[in-house]
Amino acid sequence: MEVIIAEDRDAVAQLVADAVCSLVDRRPAAVLGLATGSTPRPTYAELADRARLGLVSFERTRVFTLDEYLGLAPDDEHLYLNEIRARFTDPAGIPVERVHAPDSRPDDPDAECRAYEQQIRDAGGIDLQLLGIGRNGHVAYNEPTSSLASRTRVTTLTESSRRDIAGHFTPTPDHDSPVEPDANVPRDVITQGLGTILEARHVILMATGPHKADAVAAMVEGPVSAMIPASVLQFHPQTTVVVDEAAGAALQLADHYRYVQQHDVEQPDPFT
Ligand code: PGA
Repeated sequence: MEVIIAEDRDAVAQLVADAVCSLVDRRPAAVLGLATGSTPRPTYAELADRARLGLVSFERTRVFTLDEYLGLAPDDEHLYLNEIRARFTDPAGIPVERVHAPDSRPDDPDAECRAYEQQIRDAGGIDLQLLGIGRNGHVAYNEPTSSLASRTRVTTLTESSRRDIAGHFTPTPDHDSPVEPDANVPRDVITQGLGTILEARHVILMATGPHKADAVAAMVEGPVSAMIPASVLQFHPQTTVVVDEAAGAALQLADHYRYVQQHDVEQPDPFT
């Protein structure tokens, strides 16, 4: 794993936006896998700005979200499809027919999961997958004890994850003080599996803020374990972890990562 410790949230967003633009410049019809949630928002804002300024064109880019809430109405603003459209793909000019998410109200959820995997395969696979990480170590909604070989499926959120998203349904000024989830906070989701995510050609996992520090350290430096689902990325041949100082604060080998970063030792350009 390549670990990049950036100064702050904005620096993380700039670095990741550079990586996305570099890919899309080289391959305009690139397939992006996109996380939702708070962490990538500054990256999406930056990418949308660059597209508006004509610095990059996403017209031929295709997008797949990682997951979707089950049961929410198609016009619900919390739906991950609607979130990614509002925050990134609409302002960036990606045609809606190229933006994919699992259906939130499928007649047959298992068939929907299989169909979503097929859509990804038909698109040629994910070129670049952007990920966040939950404070419990989840990626997408692969909660602790998920099979490390799991595929896209219906799953149930842990209470800890429901608490973490409760703030999106009942906004609070401080992300570190989660509100108690009420009945409006979804319990069931469709998520890409860990086995699905591992098939992406390049993975960039982003984490910002002190509440992610323990999960980041466990993922990068701990044992591979279904209790920290993100640790499965240790098996992925091209994963770049981009954290701010706060999220990287518990990394034991932080000085080593900084040395490698400054001296371009192992990979001159981690994003190519
Ligand atoms: P967050 O969520 O970006 O809102 O912190 C990350 C995740 O749960 O994967």
